[in-house]
Amino acid sequence: MKVPASGKSQPSTASIPPTLPSTPQAHLGEVLCEPVFFAMQQVKNACKSVLLRLGYEIHPVSQPPVQDIDFKAALTVKESQYYSQWSAPCPLFSPWLGHPDFQSIYEGAEPYTLVSPDRCYMLIELARYARHLAGDFAECGVWNGGTALLLARTLGTSASKKLYLFDSFEGLPKVNGEKDSWFSEGQYRANSIGAVKAVLSDFRNMIDIRCGWIPETFRGLEERRYAFAHIDVDIYQSNLDCCAYFYPRLVPGGVLLFDEYCFAAARGEKDAVDEFFADKPERPIALPTGQAFVLKLPPPADQQSTRNSDGRVRCQDGVR
Ligand SMILES: C[S@@+](CC[C@H](N)C(=O)[O-])C[C@H]1O[C@@H](n2cnc3c(N)ncnc32)[C@H](O)[C@@H]1O
Repeated sequence: MKVPASGKSQPSTASIPPTLPSTPQAHLGEVLCEPVFFAMQQVKNACKSVLLRLGYEIHPVSQPPVQDIDFKAALTVKESQYYSQWSAPCPLFSPWLGHPDFQSIYEGAEPYTLVSPDRCYMLIELARYARHLAGDFAECGVWNGGTALLLARTLGTSASKKLYLFDSFEGLPKVNGEKDSWFSEGQYRANSIGAVKAVLSDFRNMIDIRCGWIPETFRGLEERRYAFAHIDVDIYQSNLDCCAYFYPRLVPGGVLLFDEYCFAAARGEKDAVDEFFADKPERPIALPTGQAFVLKLPPPADQQSTRNSDGRVRCQDGVR
């Protein structure tokens, strides 16, 4: 299920202590006796949560001073046009609104992707980091090629890395009725493999398209090592299969980026990733965009001495 990040944070229902700075609430606390003030806060919080469940949010008519400063500063600060009230009560730097650093990679990719600009930004920046590591790049879940194009552009045509692309191009496989109830078989069928190749035509030398069903399409790539894998396959089993293949082949410092980990409608993705990492030292880090990423830790010190004759570290599962 592809939905843009709502950008709304849940208001806190915690009581406001009477000692906080001089907000309107604090002044009221000085006038009223404490039990009455707290009772009023409880009623207000209860009303807020009822209204929130009905789809309404209440905001104070006057902003506390700290927010005023951030709102005012956002109007005049350098690159002011890229600050937006996105996931916080005040505007924050939001380069996906068209900052040249982002736009130089994103321009023209939008028609070919279901991924929202804020998530594309995270993808590009994590890829920019990972291109300095050893190992190749991969994407599982290509659809019409939009995010693959972003990865290819981030690597650049002169890159020595390969970009492996895995997709059936026929849409999702059979879904698990219980875990993936918002998805259906055949959803996200690509226009055609020819059209995807055309989108990526500038990068044909560095791209290796593996057309078919995951995990069968991983066959023959057992020896690969990866610096970065973008996992955008939506459903429970596909995510689990991707974790099982990529995790042991990820170099230390390597990145796994899961596109829809935090979306309620893609709960199967979160369940699969959490299940896989439950007995690993790494933890998926949830992002306010709806994604989550995992950074691979180096092997424990006692395993680091296990080196092959060419000096490369032997992996826990024997993959070199
Ligand atoms: C949401 S789309 C990918 C979106 C794409 N990254 C973009 O830029 O918009 C999910 C893709 O995952 C693919 N997919 C999911 N599970 C798969 C599996 N087990 N084998 C092959 N492809 C799979 C679907 O074919 C579909 O193209």
